[in-house]
Amino acid sequence: MNLVFLGPPGAGKGTQANLLTRAYGVPQISTGEILRAAVASKTPMGVKAKEYMEQGALVPDSVVVGIVEERLVSPDCASGFILDGFPRTVAQADALKQVLGALGKQIEHVVSFEVDKGVLLERIVGRRVCRACGRAFHVAFDPPRAEGVCDACGGELYQREDDREDTMRRRLEVYDEQTAPLKSYYEGEMLLRKVNALEPIEDVQRQIALLVESSN
Ligand code: AP5
Ligand code: ZN
Repeated sequence: MNLVFLGPPGAGKGTQANLLTRAYGVPQISTGEILRAAVASKTPMGVKAKEYMEQGALVPDSVVVGIVEERLVSPDCASGFILDGFPRTVAQADALKQVLGALGKQIEHVVSFEVDKGVLLERIVGRRVCRACGRAFHVAFDPPRAEGVCDACGGELYQREDDREDTMRRRLEVYDEQTAPLKSYYEGEMLLRKVNALEPIEDVQRQIALLVESSN
């Protein structure tokens, strides 16, 4: 199961990747989460990435391609992976093709999360993320059982630095300019599968499960 999740910020990629990982045991590779962990622990990569992320800009391709390459060669990706938030530029997509080619692998589906922009701000502003395991909740659409506490691991929930309205608007512009062109890129490769991401979380989950199971 070699999947790429493609969609604007707040579309639900991380939420669905998390559910799919729990259902099938395939690892989720979230470049956003890896970068946030690097920022929190102030590694050299984190220090470099911080300023881009705070402004809602993309971190340079060379940095994220390196992160993904390192993950894809690790043994836990032998039976598949879910790339969540990567690739985000045509250069990243080209690099991914090369890395996978060298490993004798290929992408099976690029799941495109189709949403109306109108819902994204509400989803982002109400998001709360677990500091320990990275799982996302929503104050209204997916509330945790106990306020401020992760259901999965008991970790503390926090609001992401880049989930402010002004940064969110910039992230959306960046998506339109740099990431949206990947839809036609993957359409050309016959890999794009659209899911209606406006539906409730469990219905989107069902659409993705159908897609994945139809190819097994
Ligand atoms: P990243 O962490 O990847 O953020 P993103 O792509 O902007 O995506 P989000 O995490 O905001 O949204 P999501 O689609 O995962 O939504 P979620 O499931 O949480 O990237 C952050 C930054 O890192 C970037 O800006 C960039 O600087 C850098 N970066 C990362 N990757 C990079 C790359 N490849 N190249 C360069 N730079 C990179 O859901 C959102 C909320 O909605 C949650 O609260 C959830 O509970 C709720 N929700 C989910 N689904 C539904 C639903 N169906 N109905 C109602 N609510 C829902
Ligand atoms: Zn947690």
